[in-house]
Amino acid sequence: MQFDEVINRYGTRSSKWDDMEKKYGVSAKDGISMWVADMDFRPPECVQNVVRQMAEHGIFGYHGNDSAYLNSISWWMQNRHNWSIDPSWIFTTHGLVNGTAICVDTFTEPGDGVVLFTPIYHSFFRVLSASDRPVVQCPLAVENGRYTLDFDRYDAMMTGREKMLILSSPHNPGGRVWTPDELRAIGEFARRHDLIIVSDEIHHDLVYPGQKHTVFPLADDSVSERLIVMSATTKTFNIAGSHVGNVIIPDSTLRAKFKKRMAALGMSPNYFGLMMAAAAYSPEGGAWVDGLMAYLEGNRQLFDAAINALPGIKSTPLEATYLAWVDFSGTGMSPEEIKRRVQQEAQVAANHGETFGQGGEAFLRFNFAMPRSQVQTAVDRLSQAFGDLQ
Ligand SMILES: Cc1ncc(COP(=O)(O)O)c(C=O)c1O
Repeated sequence: MQFDEVINRYGTRSSKWDDMEKKYGVSAKDGISMWVADMDFRPPECVQNVVRQMAEHGIFGYHGNDSAYLNSISWWMQNRHNWSIDPSWIFTTHGLVNGTAICVDTFTEPGDGVVLFTPIYHSFFRVLSASDRPVVQCPLAVENGRYTLDFDRYDAMMTGREKMLILSSPHNPGGRVWTPDELRAIGEFARRHDLIIVSDEIHHDLVYPGQKHTVFPLADDSVSERLIVMSATTKTFNIAGSHVGNVIIPDSTLRAKFKKRMAALGMSPNYFGLMMAAAAYSPEGGAWVDGLMAYLEGNRQLFDAAINALPGIKSTPLEATYLAWVDFSGTGMSPEEIKRRVQQEAQVAANHGETFGQGGEAFLRFNFAMPRSQVQTAVDRLSQAFGDLQ
């Protein structure tokens, strides 16, 4: 099985393995890297082949006509997500953190509030703080161990100075696939408070069997005059280093503003990224993703069964993503003691929950997109590190 192969990434300048020791004090020699969200798997052959062909050809000039790339995105959206888009709606950014930053820059002013449902993907905080947009943290509610939305509470928090809502759909780190009803309620909330919605759907393909992701406009197309949808090949196919993201804007007024801002910033796409993305969004790429999700489902079950057997520790049930969001609050231990046990005793590097904003303080996030043998080693070590819990 291709996903079982252990591939050494140390020494390849990978963030996940080469930066682990500096960030978490866990050495790549003995440790297991479960932090940043990329996978330890090779992408499908169709993606590897296109890079091989480019390397053999050996000339790396500017990318020209991008119609094959744009058509491949439309094809994928139609085939995998049932959403018909016109290629002219698509802008290419240097990944989706960059896409988010350009949305913030284009559609808000310094001092405007930006709403986040927390805990949420940490880079949003970095972008917003660097661009002087106050973050309005709207904590997710928890019902039966599942994150939900509490609009009465959020309505009461709005001051009129908020201009944008950034949504993570499916949600990182809670692993929720928002239902069409929830998306409609988010749309109504945005209308009530006149917010632009940036729906970051980077995890849209990483959905477990039995779950269905709904692209925002399919739940509520009446908000299209305030809606931006973002997607990418990078998470799905493990090509995050290619740094290509799709910002899809159905509304012509929003599109014109975004286009002008892109021109002002002198944005133009990366040859490798476009070629890899166009190869990935294909029937072969689709079959690979189906195999990937079946494999990740096995990893998820293994991880959750071992972690949930530890008294006081609870892995949030994931509907999507390969990022386990683990609540240690029931252990009664301090965050420092939990990190010491995970990093120093178990030699596992996991993201620290407080970086995801309010509600994340007692959590760690573990990326289990790696060969199953390594997930097994990680959970064995974690079980030992917390073996004294009764
Ligand atoms: C919700 C979300 N958005 C964006 C990103 C990163 O996007 P990019 O690498 O395209 O900048 C991630 C990575 O984990 C993410 O979880």
